[in-house]
Amino acid sequence: MASGGANVTGTRSTRSLAHRFSLCRRRAPTFPAKKKKLMFTTRGDLRARSAQEGDKVSRSIQTRLVHMTDKLDDPFDSVAPPIYQTATFNQPGATDFGPYDYSRSGNPTRTLLENQMADIENADGAFAFASGMAAIATVMRLVKPGESVLAGNDIYGGTQWFLGKIAPNKQGLHVRHVDMTKVDEVRAALEEGAAEGNAPVKLVLIESPTNPRLEVCDIAAISAVAKEHGAVVCVDNSIMAPIFQRPIDLGAEISMTSATKVRRPRSSAHSNYPSRLTVRLPILPAQVHRGPL
Ligand SMILES: Cc1ncc(COP(=O)(O)O)c(C=O)c1O
Repeated sequence: MASGGANVTGTRSTRSLAHRFSLCRRRAPTFPAKKKKLMFTTRGDLRARSAQEGDKVSRSIQTRLVHMTDKLDDPFDSVAPPIYQTATFNQPGATDFGPYDYSRSGNPTRTLLENQMADIENADGAFAFASGMAAIATVMRLVKPGESVLAGNDIYGGTQWFLGKIAPNKQGLHVRHVDMTKVDEVRAALEEGAAEGNAPVKLVLIESPTNPRLEVCDIAAISAVAKEHGAVVCVDNSIMAPIFQRPIDLGAEISMTSATKVRRPRSSAHSNYPSRLTVRLPILPAQVHRGPL
């Protein structure tokens, strides 16, 4: 140690680094002797438990926003859940696996968030992403080359760019735009896609309200028509957020929200809040992970 008050007593400079580390360890608060089991559930369990408890109907959205579905079994009972920043997790044994092994594939903090999001939207599962565009790009992976995506003609510029450049040129998808505020136009496009020799519409991407014109689409009516034609409906709910509009309740299979909007205004203190998809089982979410429908 070069200088400073600690050297006046001469104590710190004579202690070895290892000794100082051991002193720090001794000062740390000790965990309760009885180690409790983590209370996390898998996404499938979440649905089963909600059905069992019947709490989705009885708890208001306000209550659900404040009280999480899951609770991390934090030995110190912190009010805000602790954040797990580890990349890897120890396993109980060489052939015995714990719930998490590597944070890219799963992490207790992320599970907590995803379960909370699924609960808020009455969905069966949720996936957190670093951005809204990452979520949209993942949804696009559900469609196979040669199949079609139907989107509105007033949509966010980034989505427009993805549908105009990446989807057709890199993924081999057909992209068609209609006025999503007109259900008849949607129906006509679905029927045309179903005709012999045409690319069938497998995904209907509704942005409602739209960005920038804030046009409102009839999610329930479009979902019903899409279902008749075997197409999955994904709603970009970024402008309303699940607090004001819950697309899964209206019949959509996927609800997507970019968290830089209502949920987390741009540049706010919560700027690390991730975007996510919430999904209805059983059509998803396995395919989100594993490939096309
Ligand atoms: C409607 C809509 N969807 C998606 C996005 C993309 O979200 P992100 O900026 O989180 O990638 C935006 C961004 O402005 C948006 O307005």
